[in-house]
Amino acid sequence: MNAFQLLKEDHQKVSGIFQQLEPTTERAEKTRTELFDKLREELEIHTKIEESIFYPSIKQAAETREIVLEGFEEHHVVKMLLKELESIPVDTEQWTAKLKVLQENVEHHVEEEENEMFQKARQVLSEDEIERLGARMEEMKQELKTDKMEDRLKKSAKSLG
Ligand SMILES: [Fe+2]
Ligand SMILES: [Fe+2]
Repeated sequence: MNAFQLLKEDHQKVSGIFQQLEPTTERAEKTRTELFDKLREELEIHTKIEESIFYPSIKQAAETREIVLEGFEEHHVVKMLLKELESIPVDTEQWTAKLKVLQENVEHHVEEEENEMFQKARQVLSEDEIERLGARMEEMKQELKTDKMEDRLKKSAKSLG
């Protein structure tokens, strides 16, 4: 999978989780918690592979520099909102409102990446580089997913005593 395909697939996955979260109410504590955990993990891994592999590959070019710097800042806002959401109970109106703000931020960011950044990136990357970046990101994604799985197993082993 090339870099753009991989990132777009992630975007679709995240958007699907938001869509599942949308109809939930404050009473659906368990569903919300599960879906939010999934959303957080996807967003953490996705921003990480972009920041470690994709963004640096286009950061130095004049055509893409500005949009990449903006991307980093938008990721920062997303991470802050995720952190805040973690510290608020999911069964509150505040959590619902904050999740909506997170969704709007992510949607705006994804739109900018897909409609502006990726187009400009095609001007500075060769087909070959686009393929290789995809492979590297895929590899890193798998590693990060394994790490998260191990963390979860450790945590559940601990809670079982
Ligand atoms: Fe991004
Ligand atoms: Fe992205």
